[in-house]
Amino acid sequence: MERTMLGRFGVCTVLALTLQVCLAAVTVNVIPEVEVIKGEMVKLTCSFTTTEHASSLVVQWFIEIVGVRQRIAYWQSKGDAGIDADTLLSDRLTLGSDMSLTISSVTVEDEMTYYCQVTGGPVGTSEAETVVKVFNAPEKPMISGNNQAITVSHDSVSSSEVGKCTSRNAHPEPRIIWFKDGLPLAGVKDQKEKTFMIPSVVKEASGLTTVTSTLFMRPEKADAKSVFHCTVEYSMPNNQIKEDRSETFSLSLLYPSENVFFKLMNQGPIKEGDDVHMICETDGNPQPEIYFHQMEKKLAASAGKLVLKNVTRNDAGNYKCEAEDFDAEVELVKTLSFSVHYLDLVEVDPKDPLFPSQGDAVELQCKTKSSDGYTLQWKKDTKVLSQNGVLSLQSVSLSDAGVYICVGAVPSVPGLQKQANVTLTVKGKPEIDTPVDVFIAKEGGIITLNCSALGFPSPQFTWTPSGKESVTVMGNNVISRITLEATSAVLKDGVTCEASNELGMDSKKFKVSIKSEPVTDKDGNAANRGNPVFKTADRQQAGSSAVVIAVVVCVLLLLLLVAGLFFLNKKGKLSCGKKNKKDVASGDMKGGIVVEMKSGEKGNEESGLLNKPNADQC
Ligand SMILES: *[C@@H]1O[C@H](CO)[C@@H](O)[C@H](O)[C@H]1NC(C)=O
Ligand SMILES: *[C@@H]1O[C@H](CO)[C@@H](O)[C@H](O)[C@H]1NC(C)=O
Ligand SMILES: *[C@@H]1O[C@H](CO)[C@@H](O)[C@H](O)[C@H]1NC(C)=O
Repeated sequence: MERTMLGRFGVCTVLALTLQVCLAAVTVNVIPEVEVIKGEMVKLTCSFTTTEHASSLVVQWFIEIVGVRQRIAYWQSKGDAGIDADTLLSDRLTLGSDMSLTISSVTVEDEMTYYCQVTGGPVGTSEAETVVKVFNAPEKPMISGNNQAITVSHDSVSSSEVGKCTSRNAHPEPRIIWFKDGLPLAGVKDQKEKTFMIPSVVKEASGLTTVTSTLFMRPEKADAKSVFHCTVEYSMPNNQIKEDRSETFSLSLLYPSENVFFKLMNQGPIKEGDDVHMICETDGNPQPEIYFHQMEKKLAASAGKLVLKNVTRNDAGNYKCEAEDFDAEVELVKTLSFSVHYLDLVEVDPKDPLFPSQGDAVELQCKTKSSDGYTLQWKKDTKVLSQNGVLSLQSVSLSDAGVYICVGAVPSVPGLQKQANVTLTVKGKPEIDTPVDVFIAKEGGIITLNCSALGFPSPQFTWTPSGKESVTVMGNNVISRITLEATSAVLKDGVTCEASNELGMDSKKFKVSIKSEPVTDKDGNAANRGNPVFKTADRQQAGSSAVVIAVVVCVLLLLLLVAGLFFLNKKGKLSCGKKNKKDVASGDMKGGIVVEMKSGEKGNEESGLLNKPNADQC
């Protein structure tokens, strides 16, 4: 296809040639400068115009190596075109039908001037040149040679190497800039200056450039805290300047000590039992050997750290730290002192457990000593009973039994506190707490009762009726817990708890009643507590319904009695009088009458009252 096109072009040229006029010329146009990144592809265009038709045209691309021109590609209107063999570029070139030259996989060596030459025979010859610029971004700059320690000395005359910054494989040659604490250092090459850089440039086989800059300085002590880094500044197409930075680094400087610092690390006052930490260091580098002394006694320590474990009051006093720096020009000694706060063991009087009887007077005392002002409190459970170390109980009761603790504390020294205790056991006959009435839903249910008693020696419990019993001790109280069935006897007579010891006994009765509405213990309590009015109304209602039942039962009995009298009268066997009265009083009534009286104590009483007039009426 290219060939046909060229052929046609040839025909046109022949036609143009026939119309040829003298004073002809060729004009060639190229882009003067083309930029490309190494490894990519670049296209060099070449266009031309002729003032007249040329009968034969030749386009040739040239390069120039050390002043010698070399053709790399050509085209002839006669139909011949090609790439010249044996040039640097031979296998990477393509010549387009528009005479453009494309170079693929551009290398650094491809950076040169390319000439597009057009020869039009009689029309003339002309050429234009295009410069190819190749770019390659360097690798991230690396720091090396920064590991040696540098001795700081005021009278040194030469600078020391601080570090090397290397940026590899750039094109064109990049620039290295050093920074100290984020600020650029002026690029000084004069080795008489305190700070200067020695650059070096290496051309790699690939044609790329590796640059290195070695920084020299005369560091001062303050530079121990400085951070250094370097950047590489390089060019990319379109006049872009880019940069890449190295990691930062610090110098390891050696300098003699000028001052020594001796510090107590503990926060707040020191008390017996604490660990005390002391640190001694100098402003030199490296840290010199450090020795600690207390009174002329040498103490074992490591790396400037002295730790005294579990100190006592005897550890208080002066401590000395001495740094042994042979380069130092001054004596490096410091002292410090600290005091150790203490609180002696709290002693209680009497020491041994006490067993007073109910009503006895008891006095408890405690004492201690301290480096500072202290408090002494007598406590039972969480209640503070005395603030001055003396506790007088005029007349002890069973509930005063327990452990009395005397707490000594130094308010100015947090955590400095000690305590001792004495146990008080009050002898006395058992006292049972007021029992709590129990309600259940229906007869036959299982109930649990707690009988809580004070007293010493520990009470023994007896339950009537008995059940499954367990005993626990809570503080001064001994609690017997029983689980049993709410039989009719239990509902009628209640359950009795009896507690006894060698000093006497106490007993209390638990009432067990049926509560119709299904109330759980918890809810019931809540409702009762929350609404006492409702509770009263409820109880009144229960009472009045009992009265109604009693009245109805009595009326029925009356009718029965009347019917019976009528019946006996008819048979003529009854003589109304003293005999009948006697029957009632002796309870010798007919069974049915008594058996019906069964709705609780109240009902019984009331029907009893109703019963008497009945009997009298006869
Ligand atoms: C601290 O020292 C005291 C006496 O000096 C000792 O009774 C106590 O057990 C020590 N405590 C510890 C944790 O070493
Ligand atoms: C009472 O003191 C004894 C011995 O000092 C101790 O073992 C016990 O835990 C103390 N009791 C209380 C309640 O502090
Ligand atoms: C009895 O004591 C136990 C635990 O001490 C408690 O859970 C239970 O509610 C108490 N019973 C009564 C009826 O007070």
